[in-house]
Order: sequence, then structure tokens, then C-alpha cells
Amino acid sequence: MSGIPTYDAIKFPEHIRTILITGAGGFVGQKLTQLLLKYAPDVKLLLTDVVQPPTFGVSDESKLKAVKADLGDTAAVKSLFEGEKIGLVYALHGIMSGGSEANFELGYAVNVDSHLNVLRATHAHATETGQTGDKKPVYVFVSSLAIYGGPGCGPLDHVDPRKTPLYPGTSYGIEKNIMELYVYDYGRKGYLDTRSVRLPTVCIRSGAPSSAASSFVSGLIREPLQNIRTTLPIASSPSDPNINNYPLYCTKVTTVLRNIAYAGVMPESAFPAGEGRSINLPGVRVTPGQMLEALKKYGGDEAFKLVDYKIDTAVQAICKTWAGDYDSTISQGMGFQVDDKDEGYNEAVEEFIEQELGGLKK
Ligand SMILES: NC(=O)c1ccc[n+]([C@@H]2O[C@H](COP(=O)([O-])OP(=O)(O)OC[C@H]3O[C@@H](n4cnc5c(N)ncnc54)[C@H](O)[C@@H]3O)[C@@H](O)[C@H]2O)c1
Repeated sequence: MSGIPTYDAIKFPEHIRTILITGAGGFVGQKLTQLLLKYAPDVKLLLTDVVQPPTFGVSDESKLKAVKADLGDTAAVKSLFEGEKIGLVYALHGIMSGGSEANFELGYAVNVDSHLNVLRATHAHATETGQTGDKKPVYVFVSSLAIYGGPGCGPLDHVDPRKTPLYPGTSYGIEKNIMELYVYDYGRKGYLDTRSVRLPTVCIRSGAPSSAASSFVSGLIREPLQNIRTTLPIASSPSDPNINNYPLYCTKVTTVLRNIAYAGVMPESAFPAGEGRSINLPGVRVTPGQMLEALKKYGGDEAFKLVDYKIDTAVQAICKTWAGDYDSTISQGMGFQVDDKDEGYNEAVEEFIEQELGGLKK
């Protein structure tokens, strides 16, 4: 398999000795923990999530400490920082697009209120521990390309970040947008060294389907390759034109993980002057038709037959607010890596087969 990301740049400066990961019980949080255990073994990881985060066999709390906490609880957030000197935060926890659209209060409570708790607590912690100036903590907020929307951001559009206004079409996108502005302002004021990274759809996710409207992008491969039926919720049959008309902007797991980790070490000076602190992470455009081709290639006719076609109007309404392609010239220039334009999705499938299924059953 080609297109394996490189990790040479993932080197944390001497003053960053403890890293906090929120949402460490989730898919991206668990993968990021494993990556940092491998590439930053001398840095302590403080993991937190509303569910108990896994510790991957590390029992020494001076290397890895896992705390179950609801980050909507300000006292719980404050106590996370006590006795620590946290130099970097990866703020990953959240409610996904479908979940936020279905439960307005929960979406705002988690994606805005609890994130503000963590941001404010990090600022207070920086002051209390004397981490200011060059040593101020780095704060990486994990956002989403769902912050775009409106005219110029339909499935067949190509978004140029310097020209496309932010009119998110979902509560999730609006919540992420609100937090990006807060995060930007804490950077602008010089309180923290802040960065927001907007993720494309991450695939192929292992585990159970998520509440993201894009969950089917992983499900189309993950379920049939394990002999489980799955549904494509934006087409009514294999010949539905939607198969080609609803491309999604995707990134494979190892690439996005490398890029999220890199956002924590990238120099502040890499940001183009005067252009804020938000970065569109690179991805590749993939149509559901191409995803189905990949399923056939790796799973054969047997797997292909396990796909049902049934339009889910709620999922389709959300997908209509996303572009199928985003320009990533700026982020690539800053050192973020990109999947191969033609083979990226196939590589995502190969990665899933190798790493999560232990190869294809003969
Ligand atoms: N996976 C993707 O395709 C994708 C795409 C764009 C953006 N993102 C963003 O990446 C981040 C990680 O996504 P993921 O795929 O790992 O999602 P996930 O659902 O697997 O993980 C989110 C975690 O947040 C935790 N959480 C929810 N409410 C909490 C609370 N009140 N306190 C503490 N923890 C809480 C959940 O328990 C869960 O473990 C999210 O912010 C998401 O919006 C993901």
C-alpha cells in the first residue's frame, strides 16, 4: 500500500510534557492516543471522556492517566487540570452532525458549552502555571468542514476557502463555527496558541456506526466486509443518479491522525498572516459510486449484494449542505498531508482491511 503518512514532524518541544485529549474514548481520540504513545513516548497523556477512555495497557499514571468526566461540568473540568502542567490540548469530544441535528439542546451543550469550559480552564491553567509568552499552551480544536454551507457549497461544488463564506447548513456546523471563533479569539489575545482543524469525513471508521450523517461512508465498506447488511441512505437503487451526484470529501484514518497530531507541533508562523487560525485539512473527493466500486473490488459480488438502497431524507438534507470538494492548497503548504486523489479511498479500505480485519478472509 502506498500513501503512508510520515511522522518525522511529530516532535513536541521540551516545554510540552503533558498533553490533554478530550473525547479520548471516541474513535479519533483512541487512535490519536495510540499514535502519540508510539511517536511521543516521553510525553504524559491525560485522557478524558464522558465514557472511561481506554489506556491501551499503560498502567503507569505518570505516562498515561484516564479520567471519566462530563466536560459540561465546570468543576470536573477544573479538577482535570489540578496538579498537572498541560502544554497542549487536543479538544476532540463532541456530538456528531446527525446527533446535533436530532437533539438541539445536547448539540449546543456539548459542542459549545462544554468546549468553552475546556477552553476557559486551559487559559486559567496557563496563567496559574506560568505558561505564557513562547511557552503558552497549544490548543487544537477539532472542527469540521461542515462549517461551510449555503451558496457555493453543494455536493457538486469546489470550495475555495478564501472565497467561500461560512453559512453552515446544520446546528453541528454552526456549533463548530461558534467554537472556532472563540478559539481564534483566545489566540488573537495571546492567551493560548490556538488552532482549529476542520476535518473531512474520516474513513473507514471501525466499531459501530456513529451519529454522523456521513456514517454510511464507512458503513458501506465496514459492514459488508464483515458479512453484515448496510444501507446507502442517499440513493434509491444502484442506478440512482445520486450515486454520482453526492460526492463526499474524505480522508483516510492514518492521514487525518497524522494531520491532527501535526496541528499540535506546527509553528504558529506557518499560518498565513491575517487569515485566522482555522485550517481545512486535506481530503479527496469520492462519490458513492466510487465507494461501491471499492466494495466490489475488495469484497466481490457477495459483499456488494449486502448493500440496501433507501433514501433517508434527514441524512440527505445534511449531505446537501456539504461540498464534495475543498481546495487544500493552503493547508498542504503548511505541512499537512493529503491522500492520493485517485487511490485515496481504496487505500482507506486497504488500511481498514489490514489494520482492523487482519486481512481479507480467503
Ligand atoms: N469522524 C469524522 O468523520 C469527523 C469529521 C469531521 C469532524 N470530526 C470531529 O472529530 C472529533 C472526534 O470525532 P469522532 O469521530 O472521534 O467522534 P466520536 O463520537 O467517536 O467521539 C466523540 C467522543 O466525545 C465524547 N463526549 C461526548 N459528550 C461528552 C461530554 N459531555 N464530555 C466528555 N466527552 C464527551 C463521546 O463520549 C465520544 O467518545 C469530533 O469533534 C468531531 O466533530 C469527526
